[in-house]
Amino acid sequence: MAGAGAGADAAPDRRAEGDGDVERDGAEPKGADWWRQAVVYQIYPRSFADADGDGIGDLAGITSRIPYLASLGVDAVWLSPFYPSALADGGYDVDDYRNVDPRLGTLDDFDRMIRALHAAGIRLVADLVPNHSSDRHEWFRAALASAPGSPERARYIFRDGRGPDGALPPSDWQSIFGGPAWHRVPDGQYYLHLFAPQQPDLNWDNPEVRADFVRTLRFWSDRGVDGFRVDVAHGLAKRLTDPLPSTEEMAGFGPGAHPLWDRDEVHDIYAEWRRVFQEYDPPRTAVAEAWVEPDRRARYAHPEGLGQAFSFDLLEANYDADGFRRIITDNLAFARESGSSTTWVFSNHDVVRHATRYGLPVPADGGPQKGREWLLSGGTEPVLDREGGLRRARAATLLMLALPGSAYLYQGEELGLHEVIEIPDEDRQDPTFFRNAGVEIGRDGCRVPIPWTRGGSSFGFGTDGAHLPQPTWFGAVSVEAEERDDASTLALYRRALALRRRLQGPEQLHWLDAGQRPVLAFERPGGWRAVMNFGPGDVTLPEGELLLASAPVSDGVLPADATAWLRVP
Ligand code: NOJ
Repeated sequence: MAGAGAGADAAPDRRAEGDGDVERDGAEPKGADWWRQAVVYQIYPRSFADADGDGIGDLAGITSRIPYLASLGVDAVWLSPFYPSALADGGYDVDDYRNVDPRLGTLDDFDRMIRALHAAGIRLVADLVPNHSSDRHEWFRAALASAPGSPERARYIFRDGRGPDGALPPSDWQSIFGGPAWHRVPDGQYYLHLFAPQQPDLNWDNPEVRADFVRTLRFWSDRGVDGFRVDVAHGLAKRLTDPLPSTEEMAGFGPGAHPLWDRDEVHDIYAEWRRVFQEYDPPRTAVAEAWVEPDRRARYAHPEGLGQAFSFDLLEANYDADGFRRIITDNLAFARESGSSTTWVFSNHDVVRHATRYGLPVPADGGPQKGREWLLSGGTEPVLDREGGLRRARAATLLMLALPGSAYLYQGEELGLHEVIEIPDEDRQDPTFFRNAGVEIGRDGCRVPIPWTRGGSSFGFGTDGAHLPQPTWFGAVSVEAEERDDASTLALYRRALALRRRLQGPEQLHWLDAGQRPVLAFERPGGWRAVMNFGPGDVTLPEGELLLASAPVSDGVLPADATAWLRVP
């Protein structure tokens, strides 16, 4: 592999060796199209497996667990940021885009990990964070050490303050994590940070910034990275001409014209990246994290752009048959429009786990249940139906895995993990907690290191504790416990992924009239069907051999909150 083991940028041969290794038998797309219907497993590296016993997960830990990933049956791993970072935002504050955090390992460890993943037939998608660097990045340090108006400052977004002595920030904008989006530096200027103050926004009008990210794309692609998950993909292009509009004024900008988000010019950046992706064989892939209206998503997913975009529609929806059906129909139509495939996701490192969300009642106003009040109340209000939540999560996941397109899973959901509420304030890490005292609890509860064994130090995560405290109930939902239980969620995921590999065909779906409500039923090419019963009553399944179900089926009766896959007779 070009550049393997070296700290310097890799040689210009951009064809990663070993690509032939990653093909597997079965129905999944080959070669350049591998991503279209892939099952991608998200690893939050600091919380997956800790090989060196410092309480923080690392790359060698991931390598040691590749047999587990292979037995689960995933096609690819998406690795959340593993770069050097002060962890002001869980690693999404990057000090150096072309290196590995020493607490997680070295570039050699990275090369070993990717080789072992490829040998197991698993691709690697790396998280890329282009909207902002960290405030420890060498560029930002240089910017602080340089004068206003200098080329060093021009890589970021610096402005003078308003008012006679410049004491007011350049605008009233608020950061996503709460508090002002401008931070004042000692000489009186302000810099923009749409997230935490430790995450200064880069200036994408600056050709140096563009060139440096192209270098980063090639650096990791040369090391064999198969694709990129692009953080805040809708934020890079900004229009910051003076006078800056107020928050209220910005609300009036139409699609594509908002000064900060989802501007049309952002796609010029991705068109350049696409040319880089196409230098490789197979071409590197990308998936956009773009929080945009569904009808704007196709631009990010365009084959001449990033190629795929996350749909968070299911993740944000309540457990509801009509809502699910609408989302599935719309997203399949959007995918056709873009030429891409659809993505589906229920859980990730930013949201309350779906087993927990589905165990909480729908809010009185009918809005999405995000688990916010439950978190704020310390897990008491509203009352969590743990079993019901898990039952519904298993059913929903089995429905998702039957859909055309790619499915993104988040580490620990295959164990049916609930959100961890038992984290004392002094142990919390998420900036949303610190910047919104008493209003937001933050995302630590889904980032607790996952349990591998029933007991022992940190439930098998490592040999000496875990950087976030694990609850006592973790032992019962550990990999060890679930591997011994044929009815466990882990057993269900393994079966579902193995079956999906065999059954998955063209990206088509045909809705069936289930004849009963609230039930969703559809047929996929190749003669198989999925039927989901949203409850509360039992429903009778149509004819056909039962292939898999998320809950016991007897005499052709599918209980409430369950999904079955059937072979068409
Ligand atoms: C989206 C990431 O998923 C989230 O974890 C992060 O805090 C923000 N982008 C900022 O990088």
